[in-house]
Amino acid sequence: MPTIRVDPVAPDAGVIARAAEVIRRGGLVAFPTETVYGLGANALDAAAVRRIYEAKGRPGYNPLIAHVADSVAAARLVRAWPEAAARLAAAFWPGPLTLVLPKREVVPDIVTAGLDTVAVRVPAHAVALALLRAAGVPIVAPSANPSMMLSPTRAEHVEQGLGERVDLILDAGPTRVGIESTVVDLTGDRPVLLRPGVLSTDDLEPLIGPVDRPAEAGGTAPRRAPGMLARHYAPRAELRVFEPTERGRAAELARAAAAAGRVVGALVLVPLDAPVHEEVCMPAEPAAYARELYDVLHRLDALGCDLVLVEEPPATPAWAGVRDRLRRAGQPAGAQ
Ligand code: TXA
Ligand code: MG
Repeated sequence: MPTIRVDPVAPDAGVIARAAEVIRRGGLVAFPTETVYGLGANALDAAAVRRIYEAKGRPGYNPLIAHVADSVAAARLVRAWPEAAARLAAAFWPGPLTLVLPKREVVPDIVTAGLDTVAVRVPAHAVALALLRAAGVPIVAPSANPSMMLSPTRAEHVEQGLGERVDLILDAGPTRVGIESTVVDLTGDRPVLLRPGVLSTDDLEPLIGPVDRPAEAGGTAPRRAPGMLARHYAPRAELRVFEPTERGRAAELARAAAAAGRVVGALVLVPLDAPVHEEVCMPAEPAAYARELYDVLHRLDALGCDLVLVEEPPATPAWAGVRDRLRRAGQPAGAQ
C-alpha cells in the first residue's frame, strides 16, 4: 500500500500514469477529490468494483458514484440527459455535485446495486481529473473509509482506516470542501435532494426550480438514497448535538461526564463554560465549518474522546450539509 505524495495543483505525470495503470489492471487507488478522499476502481470492471465493497465492508445495497472527467463522459453512462442535468453540469461541474440519472447498460449492476439509475460526478480536483483522463475509464469512488465511519479528508485518514486494503494512495494534502458532494436525483418529475452538501437548494433552485428535500424531512419521503442510513459518517466517540439555547444543560452534561472519568470534547460556535478535555471553536460560516468538520472529529477520536458535545448550527439551507452529517454522526450505534 504505497502512499505517494503528489502536488494538488500540478500532479506529476509519471505518478498519475502509475496510478492509472493500477486502475486499468483492476486495482484500488485512493485519491483526493475536492470533497473527501475517494477509493477508486474502474467503473466498467465488475470484479474491481467488488473489491471496493470488500475493502470498505460496504453493504451491497449501497450504490457507488461514477466519477468522470467531463459532461461528455457522463452522458455516455446515462440514457437521458435532461435540461436540468445540462444546467447543473454547466453551472457546477467540475464540483461537489452528483447527479442521479437513468443508467445505460454499459454500467455494471454492481456499481448501482441493481438500480436502474446511476450517480455521476465530475470532481473539481486536478489529481482526480488527471487520473480520470489517464485511466481513460470512469472511476467509481466511494469515500475511502470503512463503511459507516468518518470520511477521510487527508491521506493519513485513509491509511488509518483502510491501510493494506488499498493498492496505492495518492496524497495531495487536505481536501478543500471537507464533506461529501450534494446528491440530486433527476429521474423523477421533480428533482429530489438525496444528500445535502455545501451546494444547497439555494444554489440549485434558481437553475432548475423547486427541489424536494426528503433528506431534511427525516425519512418519511418515498425516494431515499439507498446509502443514507441514519447512522453514517460517524466517529468512535458518542456525539451529542445540542441547540444553542441548551448551552447550560450541555455544560452540566460535560461536567458530569468529566466527573465520571469520561474524556469529553466539544465542537462549539461559542465557548462552553465547562471543563472539557478539548474544545474546538468552529467557524461561523458553513463552507469553512464543513472543511474542518471531519478533520476535527478524526482528531477528537485520536485524542481518545468518548463523548463529543456539538452545538447545532442554524437551520438554514446553507447549513443543511453540515447539519445532516452532524445528525448522522450523532445517532446511537445500530440505528437505521
Ligand atoms: O463527495 C463525494 O461524493 C465522495 C467523493 C469521493 O466523490 N464520494 C462519496 O461516495 O461520498 P459514497 O459512496 O460515500 O456516497 C455515495 C452516495 C450514497 O449515499 C449512495 O447511496 C448515493 O450516493 N447513490 C449512489 N448511487 C445512487 C443511485 N443510483 N441512486 C440514489 N443514490 C445513489
Ligand atoms: Mg461514504
